[in-house]
Amino acid sequence: MASDDGGVTGQPLVRRKIWGLPIRLFHWALAGSVLTGLYLGEFRSFTNINLHFYFGYATGVLLLFRVVYGFAGPEHARFSNLFRSLRGMGAYAGGVLRRAPSGVPGHNPLGSASVIAMLLALAVQVITGLCSEDDSLFSEGPLASYLDSGTVLKMTAWHYWSSRVVIGLVALHLAAIAFYALWKRENLVVSMITGWKRVRVDKDTSARPD
Ligand code: HEM
Ligand code: HEM
Repeated sequence: MASDDGGVTGQPLVRRKIWGLPIRLFHWALAGSVLTGLYLGEFRSFTNINLHFYFGYATGVLLLFRVVYGFAGPEHARFSNLFRSLRGMGAYAGGVLRRAPSGVPGHNPLGSASVIAMLLALAVQVITGLCSEDDSLFSEGPLASYLDSGTVLKMTAWHYWSSRVVIGLVALHLAAIAFYALWKRENLVVSMITGWKRVRVDKDTSARPD
């Protein structure tokens, strides 16, 4: 079994292909659509509110893909794996400050928690967006006309608040990645670009590439 304790046990690090092309393309497309969607939502106007909607729909389509991939995709992308890894959170958090790469194949337990939180917050963001309106721009999401005005007002307020949650989670995501790079000398970004990661494995087993 690979180390799940923040790099405490010191098994050797071996290069393995961990992230397949679909998850890497998904990730960078999601980062692009969410950052652009946030910008266009924050600085919305008559000329760009439709573009905000389109980036919102793109985010929704990416999330649908991720749900399918979470059930039907390879080992490290599976939700079952993400939830299973949450059980090792206590042990992992205990060793996380150790100045060594964790070398966990796939997401480490804290990473799994943050991935689940980001996907959930983004789902709320998209669903509330579909039901929101901006009176001053005479614009509304495609489901708003099916709802009464009180519900639309609530959805619009939630759309705002969940965007603050998304911003907070993305900031945490980036801070964690910087911490891994600078403190633990583990460059997770290169792995998310190339798919290759240095992981800890026992002598007699190997991490299975996707
Ligand atoms: C599913 C498609 C989406 C639709 C139809 C949609 C629709 C809207 C509407 C109508 C508003 C104006 C609300 C108001 O007047 O306060 C808005 C604002 C906003 N949206 Fe979206 N949205 C969508 C997806 C997203 C996504 C995915 C994000 C972020 C990742 C996002 C972030 C924001 C932000 C930050 C605001 C400004 C909130 C404020 O300052 O009040 N939206 N959106
Ligand atoms: C709005 C922007 C972003 C969002 C919503 C986001 C979301 C996510 C999600 C959902 C995952 C999990 C991938 C999966 O299994 O589905 C992930 C992983 C990852 N993201 Fe992002 N991301 C964003 C921006 C970035 C940026 C700008 C970077 C690089 C600087 C980055 C680097 C990574 C890395 C390295 C991983 C893999 C972490 C690990 O090894 O456990 N992300 N991100």
